[in-house]
Amino acid sequence: METRSLGPGAPDEGAVTIGGMPLSIRDRPDEATGIAVLHAVLDAGVTLLDTADVYCLDHKDIGHNERLFAKALKTWSGDRHNLVVATKGGMVRPEGGWEHDGRPAHLTQACDKSLRALGVDRIDLYQLHTPDPSVPFADSVGALAELQKQEKIRWIGLSNVSVAQIEEARALVTVVSVQNRLSPFFREAIETGVIAHCAEHGIGFLAYSPVGGGRLNKKLPTHPVLAPMAERLGASPHAVVLAWVMAQGPNVIPIAAGRSVKSALDSTTVASLKLTADDLSSIDEAGFSIAR
Ligand SMILES: NC(=O)c1ccc[n+]([C@@H]2O[C@H](COP(=O)([O-])OP(=O)(O)OC[C@H]3O[C@@H](n4cnc5c(N)ncnc54)[C@H](OP(=O)(O)O)[C@@H]3O)[C@@H](O)[C@H]2O)c1
Repeated sequence: METRSLGPGAPDEGAVTIGGMPLSIRDRPDEATGIAVLHAVLDAGVTLLDTADVYCLDHKDIGHNERLFAKALKTWSGDRHNLVVATKGGMVRPEGGWEHDGRPAHLTQACDKSLRALGVDRIDLYQLHTPDPSVPFADSVGALAELQKQEKIRWIGLSNVSVAQIEEARALVTVVSVQNRLSPFFREAIETGVIAHCAEHGIGFLAYSPVGGGRLNKKLPTHPVLAPMAERLGASPHAVVLAWVMAQGPNVIPIAAGRSVKSALDSTTVASLKLTADDLSSIDEAGFSIAR
């Protein structure tokens, strides 16, 4: 698989990464299927896996996806040395809702829980899940700096951030990666200059919900531009969209995801799929409605 730089001081990673969210939230598959998905993508050459403490059903289930990753890695027969597992802290799931909690005390506690759930002494990449509007951003980033000092985390990443927040964080720590949303449906990471800013500073851009997320991805197979393009290229419409996402910058690594071995493996084929300039501009110019 083609590789791309994860960020300053971090190794190159397979150009497509897999996220575990659909394996642990509502409508998740059984554990054996979740583990089979993870084993299949690792066998296919994926070297970076993305999880979060809040990929679970609710506050009683925190760490579900991290525990699933730990089980899958323990039983995988491949070489684990070059694998990077990225997790996140800074959100909570009261009664199944999604809320911010970027207080330093919460981040410290969440990181300890993630270490236990993943069964490791140090987390490879720890990402601030999202800025918390009720906590000064520098305080949340400062908590991650402290965790790094204590060697509980190796690299620091940010998620759901603006260029100004990246710069605020860079004044305090080395930011290895930024994880924001990017798909043909949602292009704000391009429009606000976040991807270009990351590229300028060698920061990896991890594109989340790259095929539009659980609902919108279902529109891809009948899309008037994508469907014929996919047929011509002998690829799935999802793979074509992932290739468009990857083409948005040399630092862009899409975080694909799927609840079945078939769809997760299909996403890994994108690393060898090349779109022409005409293909890319057709997708650029096409409409992608987010209406139901
Ligand atoms: N940092 C953040 O705030 C944040 C937010 C959201 C997501 N994320 C990360 O990004 C990852 C992906 O995001 P996402 O799950 O929201 O959205 P997504 O990857 O855009 O969509 C996922 C859904 O699309 C379907 N799909 C994907 N590739 C497919 C293929 N090749 N063929 C057929 N179906 C395909 C899958 O359906 P099936 O499940 O039916 O297979 C899957 O559930 C997450 O796992 C997580 O790691 C981060």
